[in-house]
Amino acid sequence: MSKITIAIDGFSSTGKSTLAKQLAKALGYVYVDTGAMYRAVTLFAMRNGFIGGESEKLEDLVQLLPKIKLRFEPNEALGFSEMYLNGENIEKQIRTLEVSNYVSRVAEIEQVRYKLVEMQKEMGKEKGVVMDGRDIGTVVFPDAELKVFMTASPQARATRRYKELLDRGEKVSYEEVLENVQKRDYIDSNREFSPLRKADDAIEFDNSDMGLKEQFERLLSIARRFIERA
Ligand code: DC
Repeated sequence: MSKITIAIDGFSSTGKSTLAKQLAKALGYVYVDTGAMYRAVTLFAMRNGFIGGESEKLEDLVQLLPKIKLRFEPNEALGFSEMYLNGENIEKQIRTLEVSNYVSRVAEIEQVRYKLVEMQKEMGKEKGVVMDGRDIGTVVFPDAELKVFMTASPQARATRRYKELLDRGEKVSYEEVLENVQKRDYIDSNREFSPLRKADDAIEFDNSDMGLKEQFERLLSIARRFIERA
């Protein structure tokens, strides 16, 4: 059976990654979390004082882009890949609210997008990949056989994200998380380069009132139909 490319785009905290990961596992496909790549560059920018400090200089980040080496490495025990920045496992550090607060601004930079999109194209060139992000169906793989666009109300998404952060021991308020979700929606949808938008041929999936099991089963049956057709 031939392998296809599956692009899953949508707003933040729609549960894209969880679903994409499960789908990839069920199909025996490679999963690529492109948000983790933008988060890794953001962490690098924060650590080097390019963002979030007294004297922000995001333009200097562009000069140092060649020094940023990113890779995903499978963690057999966990059953998924983790993000490495210049040889360091940064999976935990990139999931904080602080990184979430800055990442949309880093993801607006044209040269950052160019670098990461090139890497993503390379990772998916053999097909048999489930890639999630914001511009996968529109920019990275406009020819993907299956495109899914995930949405859910900001409140439903903030509630999920708030629980996740609390479980991880972060001290945050629901209001803070909702504000972050809404701010990121705005920046992600209105940026100049590759704004978040549904590809014309993407299937829209609103999961505000749907449990994970139902979402997974629906998506898996859609994917199997597309694979049979390919
Ligand atoms: O999926 P996520 O929430 O981990 O993504 C983090 C941020 O990265 C998100 O606010 C927008 C940006 N992003 C992007 O611009 N393009 C992608 N393909 C993936 C993420």
